Amino acid sequence: MSVRVAVIPGDGVGPEVVEATLPVLRAALDRQGESLEITELDWGGERFLREGAAMPADAAEVARAHDAVLFGAVGRPDVPDDELVWGLIIGLRQQLDLAVNIRPVRAFAGVPTRVRGTDGVDLVIVRENTEGEYTGAGGLVHAGTGDDLAVEVAVHSRRVIERAAEHACRLAEQRTGRLALVTKSNAMRHGYPLWDRVVREVAERHPEVELETVLVDAMAARMIQAPRSLDVLLASNLFGDILSDLAAVLAGGMGMAPSANILPGGDVPGVYEPVHGSAPDIAGRGLANPTACLLSGALLLEDLGHDKAADLVREAVATTLADPHHHTPDLGGRASTTDLAAAVLRQVTDQMETR
Ligand code: NAI
Ligand code: MG
Repeated sequence: MSVRVAVIPGDGVGPEVVEATLPVLRAALDRQGESLEITELDWGGERFLREGAAMPADAAEVARAHDAVLFGAVGRPDVPDDELVWGLIIGLRQQLDLAVNIRPVRAFAGVPTRVRGTDGVDLVIVRENTEGEYTGAGGLVHAGTGDDLAVEVAVHSRRVIERAAEHACRLAEQRTGRLALVTKSNAMRHGYPLWDRVVREVAERHPEVELETVLVDAMAARMIQAPRSLDVLLASNLFGDILSDLAAVLAGGMGMAPSANILPGGDVPGVYEPVHGSAPDIAGRGLANPTACLLSGALLLEDLGHDKAADLVREAVATTLADPHHHTPDLGGRASTTDLAAAVLRQVTDQMETR
């Protein structure tokens, strides 16, 4: 059997981390007698400059012809950010109705962090992925008059909150049972109180889940002060976006944070991507840490039922990162993207031989 993956390297460090990841996924699948079949797609900034769109009109159909999508990052300094971020990744999430973005954060032994007390951090952010503050609802009036007025409307529907909450509860049940809902119901009077009500109702159907509600500002402080008190977090699109960059720092930074955009129980391919962007400040120099992309690849394998291959990738990453010789500059080391990836690939191959 082969696993069919559509690969979108994208811009900046995207192609570097994706190229580092594919051989590792291929080797891990090979161990299970499976093969990796990829379709490389040229979607992103260059395509936008050439054809006026970051991805084709039938992008969702192209994605649907595969088991999963592996995506690097988009964004380049000479193209307005919203053309690429909206035109590609947010567009794909919405067109495929990828309800949640799962963002696990795990502190690996031996990886330095700028925050103290992060040993053993192991949490997952479940970010609502299709509504909230990121629907594009709103508009600009009096544009260019000097009196410009922008309205950005947040959209929160019971159906969408419910499906995200259901997934977060199931995930919490598989872990410690602890679920923290992140809202801002003291200052916003409509959307977040609806979240509070709906999530409470859903959690009542899951007696093993212990739900607490935390305001987003308090959560930002708690993440730094007591990160091990957290297990599964459920957050809106905006809050999940912000908190996941913060949480990434607990694991060593943006180079360490993977994610999965999925529709739980739905028949659509998931889109797997590092949380980070195209990092133009370090692109093209072999400085990018490929870990976030490698771990996104592990999430992809796991969701397709290749648990053993996924574990193999994670174990190889953990063993490799335990040795500071393999650390990239963001982790304080001197290894390049390809040095780290080659070391992970060797681990996958070695583990295969010793098993
Ligand atoms: P960014 O995540 O690209 O970079 C933030 C910081 O983290 C930079 O200092 C960068 O060097 C560092 N960093 C990121 N990935 C790294 C890696 N793998 N290894 C080591 N260091 C890493 O966010 P930024 O700078 O705000 O955005 C850059 C561009 O990416 C923008 O055009 C933005 O719109 C886009 N973007 C795209 C996303 C996506 O494709 N999903 C997500 C976030 C931003
Ligand atoms: Mg972000």
